[in-house]
Amino acid sequence: MTTLIFVIAAYLIGSISFAVVVSKVMGLSDPRTYGSGNPGATNVLRSGNKKAAIATLIGDALKGWVAVFLANYFAEQYGVGDGTIALVCVAVFLGHLYPVFFKFQGGKGVATAAGILLALNVWVGLATLVTWLVVAYAFRYSSLAALIASIFAPFYYGLLFGSDEKLFAVIVMSALLLFRHAKNISNLLAGKESRIGSKAKGAA
Ligand code: G3P
Repeated sequence: MTTLIFVIAAYLIGSISFAVVVSKVMGLSDPRTYGSGNPGATNVLRSGNKKAAIATLIGDALKGWVAVFLANYFAEQYGVGDGTIALVCVAVFLGHLYPVFFKFQGGKGVATAAGILLALNVWVGLATLVTWLVVAYAFRYSSLAALIASIFAPFYYGLLFGSDEKLFAVIVMSALLLFRHAKNISNLLAGKESRIGSKAKGAA
């Protein structure tokens, strides 16, 4: 029962789409209506409003971090183990991808995954973030950076902690992230993916 409450709470936290909320608060177009249509920081940046993109990035990362931090914090008190923490990771991630508050049309999970990984282990989170930054700097594609970082994340976790329930959660999140980037992968292969910093038509 306790595990179920942790998992539902995590899913609800993940369901807050900061791209949509921040854009509404700042009087911008709904990010689902321009660019890639993805409610995420990369697409909000295509509105040309860097502050909104940064607020989205922080909000989406923070919700992942908060959910896992709280689960860890209360784990002992409520007698839940690593299996529950692993389920919380996947639940907050699924909340972002399929948010109950936004007709189950969510984002691709990059910022939320970063927050989750940082809460799981700061070194795993930082190694994954550095991977993202190196690829993004070299190729200027946010999606490519996310794809490569998500492939590396399970290896970073596995190298430090070996095989456990949380590694399984990291693998599931990486697989979901790759799945959610199907359109980006075909755009990258076709040379049609937009680079970081390019502005979208129809965004205000
Ligand atoms: O953060 C999501 C990113 O990897 C791709 O976003 O808007 O280019 O599909 P987008």
